[in-house]
Amino acid sequence: MEVIIQPNQEAAAGLAARIVARELRSNPNLVLGLATGQTMERVYRHLVRLHQDEKLDFSLCRTFNLDEYVGLFPSDPNSYRHYMEHHLFRHVNVDRRNTYLPNGLATDLDEECRRYEATIERFGGIDLQLLGIGKAGHIGFNEPLSALRSRTRVKALTPTTLRQNAPLFGGEDKMPRRAITMGVGTILECRRCLLLATGSSKAEVVAKAVEGPITSMISATALQLHRRCTVIVDEDAASKLAERDYYRWIFANEPEWEEYR
Ligand code: GLP
Repeated sequence: MEVIIQPNQEAAAGLAARIVARELRSNPNLVLGLATGQTMERVYRHLVRLHQDEKLDFSLCRTFNLDEYVGLFPSDPNSYRHYMEHHLFRHVNVDRRNTYLPNGLATDLDEECRRYEATIERFGGIDLQLLGIGKAGHIGFNEPLSALRSRTRVKALTPTTLRQNAPLFGGEDKMPRRAITMGVGTILECRRCLLLATGSSKAEVVAKAVEGPITSMISATALQLHRRCTVIVDEDAASKLAERDYYRWIFANEPEWEEYR
């Protein structure tokens, strides 16, 4: 893992977007894994700006989202399909036929999960996966005790996640109870992972994910097993990391990061 600490939310999201842009420029056929949540909204704003100002081209790339709620129509403002349309797809030149999210309305949800995995495989796997982190340490909707080798499947949402996302639905009783999510194993197979966390509410879980022991109780800890995972945090989210100075030193000295400093 590499940890990069940025002064604030804006700088952290900007750096994540620049990494995505660089990968996309060096491979226009990039298979890009996308995430949702408030943290990602800033990243998408930066990508839209890069598309508008610097002609960042999405026309050949394919996108796969991590997860989708069960039972919501794509037009539902709380569906992740709607989120992606609203924050990214409609503002850039991505071909909608190349954008994939699990179908939470499928009659056979298990079959839909298998189909999603097969589609990812058909396009040669995910090159770069964007990740946020839930307050309980989940990536995608891989709630506590998600098997570290799990694949795309239906997960029941935990009370913590329901509470965290309920305000968007206008109350917990209006929220879907289940979601389809890529598994931890699916995520670990992506060639590169980029996790972004900002704000003091994420400080504790970031410290556990990066410096704590690997445990299925906190699915983000599995990223320690990944060959190429970059964690970008702002000062607030970094505040509980014990080795902050070491991470800063690496970022300041590694030639790989020169263009991003
Ligand atoms: C949801 C998503 C996760 C995301 C998390 C954090 O649970 N399924 O993929 O990481 O929210 O969201 P936020 O960035 O709003 O804190």
